Amino acid sequence: MSGTVHVERDGNVAVLVIDNPPVNASSADVRRALLDAIGTVQSDFTIEAAVLIGAGNTFVAGSDIKEFGKPIPEPQLPVIQAAIRDCPTPFIAALHGAALGGGFELALSCDARIATPDVIVGFPEVSLGMIPGAGGTQYLPRLTGIPAAIEMICSCRRIGAKEGKERGLIDAMADGELRATAVAFARGWIGRKRPLGRIDVPPSPADAIDKATAAALRAGRNRPQVSAAIEAVQWAASLPFDDALAKERTVFQALRMSTEAAALRHLFFAERQAPKTSGLDGIAPARIARAGVVGAGTMGAGIAMCFADAGIPVILVDQDEAAVDRGMAAIRSFYERTVKSGRMSESEAASRIARITPAENLEALSSADLVVEAIFEDMGIKKDLLVRLDGLVAPHAILASNTSYLNLDALAAVTGRADKVVGLHFFNPAQTMRLLEVVRAQATSAETLASALDVAKRLRKLAVIARVGEGFIGNRIYAAYRRQCEFMLEEGAFPEDIDAALENFGFAMGPFAVADMSGLDTAWRMRKRLAATRDSHERYCEIPDRICEQGRLGRKTGAGWYSYRSGERKGASDPAVRALIEEASALKGIVRRAFTAEQICRRVVVTMVNEAALLLAEGIAARPSDIDVVLVNGYGFPKHEGGPLFWASHQDRATVLAELENLAAVSGYGFRTGDVAGLLDRLQDQA
Ligand code: 3HC
Repeated sequence: MSGTVHVERDGNVAVLVIDNPPVNASSADVRRALLDAIGTVQSDFTIEAAVLIGAGNTFVAGSDIKEFGKPIPEPQLPVIQAAIRDCPTPFIAALHGAALGGGFELALSCDARIATPDVIVGFPEVSLGMIPGAGGTQYLPRLTGIPAAIEMICSCRRIGAKEGKERGLIDAMADGELRATAVAFARGWIGRKRPLGRIDVPPSPADAIDKATAAALRAGRNRPQVSAAIEAVQWAASLPFDDALAKERTVFQALRMSTEAAALRHLFFAERQAPKTSGLDGIAPARIARAGVVGAGTMGAGIAMCFADAGIPVILVDQDEAAVDRGMAAIRSFYERTVKSGRMSESEAASRIARITPAENLEALSSADLVVEAIFEDMGIKKDLLVRLDGLVAPHAILASNTSYLNLDALAAVTGRADKVVGLHFFNPAQTMRLLEVVRAQATSAETLASALDVAKRLRKLAVIARVGEGFIGNRIYAAYRRQCEFMLEEGAFPEDIDAALENFGFAMGPFAVADMSGLDTAWRMRKRLAATRDSHERYCEIPDRICEQGRLGRKTGAGWYSYRSGERKGASDPAVRALIEEASALKGIVRRAFTAEQICRRVVVTMVNEAALLLAEGIAARPSDIDVVLVNGYGFPKHEGGPLFWASHQDRATVLAELENLAAVSGYGFRTGDVAGLLDRLQDQA
């Protein structure tokens, strides 16, 4: 049984307590129990008003998303809402925690809403590939007007109590204890009903609707659920309420069964699964009251901001005054831009900056409970630093490395506290990217891992646990598919063909544009580091080295895979690069051939699937879904495809295996083929 409803009494008011931990999702059991409870309210003439409230920390966080891949069991939510509407007794929704999606729709079908000041309300459905399916698109515009409803539904923005009250979504604020206040409020409603469906939609100028529509389509990258939501909201003004409700439900039912909605649901659960691992039950994380960051470059400054944003005081150290000043200047400039854009008040920005203490010597870190090193990606330099930190920081302090490639076991081994060493691999820009690979080295203790995961949560990061291996999860897969992209250059494609194909598939940016943005020198340095150990029989594409040798290190040098006019972010295709690529093909005696966009995309994603199979077999990633979370949140893989492994689970098995065979053949000696057939079976079993 998943959830129930307790009917309690407070004099002439019935209190219906929805109880389905952890978030009171409206499951089939909850809906059945609600329908019974509404029947009780209707049949008992001593009940003159009813309060709907959630047990625990929240009202109803939405419909039970787990039900959405199959036919939804009866009674469905609209039946409950109709029963509330048709019951002569007034219903008051008492909101705390979250009232989202179907939970908010349930509240909107009541006669009034009272809420605690910390409540959030909103519609996340579009982010799950659907539109609200229980009247959200019809109730909301009646309260806010059409343009605001379009904005709120399409952005999936979570709205706080203050704005909710201003916009009429909440009728009263409960400053005291919610249940008692709601009962008193409900008594004021005795003898009245106010179904929202009877309210007219306030008129809005056509240009305001057009503006909201254009903005929503742009921000929503023209996904089908965005345009469907915009259309449905407008029915509120053009169709009778009941007809519009029925049409909304039909669209919702069709969209929830789409592959895109399944992909987004998969990611919803995958993201919540990723920070979990066995063996941590009952292990209390260490208290991190003060943090330290070594290295005030782009990454270090970004990481320091993550701590400051989470309210954790942080000491930012670099080796000389100029470096620390540069880091602090970058931090101030970031917060200034945030204030200018209206997303933060000046005083809030000032207090965040004040949480960052600049320092020029490592001794300043002696009071830190956790120190993250974010210095130059060089094994020797990092080892030296860790040895020094080990001798400086308190015995309980955790040492974290932000390395993106290096062997964390080797780094941990130079300290006398290998059990307290962990990887915290942030993504650039650290202060805005949600993804965080939490790397568990061989000696990392369960307590250190639990502490790192707890810190990740406090920093509001999306943690994925990885084990040690060159590039961990994300960069390992990135290196594998970038290599294939380079092979495709030799075989006949140009950077712009590959970038365009992948962007069209839904990637935020193609790999060559990304390389230009982040700079080609880091990967070049890594190739040089690995050159001595590279097997000379392996296929190696020299084009990137030739590009770097010409001083084309990306946007920062005005040229990389593309050339950049001063100040421009988008590069132009460069005949010199094309010539260099053609020359490289000729040197290897490769007859160039054209690639279709589909061939490019499939080769890239099948490469990811193959590398994922290897990572899983090596235990570097624990679950297939962790790999999807990393690729979507750190590497621009299209969310609506659910990640490379969700994508693979929806492809023809024989085609994928044939493509893999071909990939191995064109890549030649040294290409490692993973057990993709086994992985596809595993994905099938999990579907
Ligand atoms: N259905 C099923 N399970 C849900 C759920 C839902 N709607 N919302 C949350 N959960 C589960 C999570 O999977 C997680 O399970 P786990 O412990 O086994 O991993 C657990 O509840 C706790 O969730 P979080 O880890 O996210 O808890 P937080 O405290 O961080 O956040 C929250 C709470 C803000 C409510 C957040 O869970 C959330 O945003 N939930 C999604 C709400 C949502 O999308 N609702 C709309 C559903 S679609 C709908 O209602 C359609 C309607 O229009 C007909």
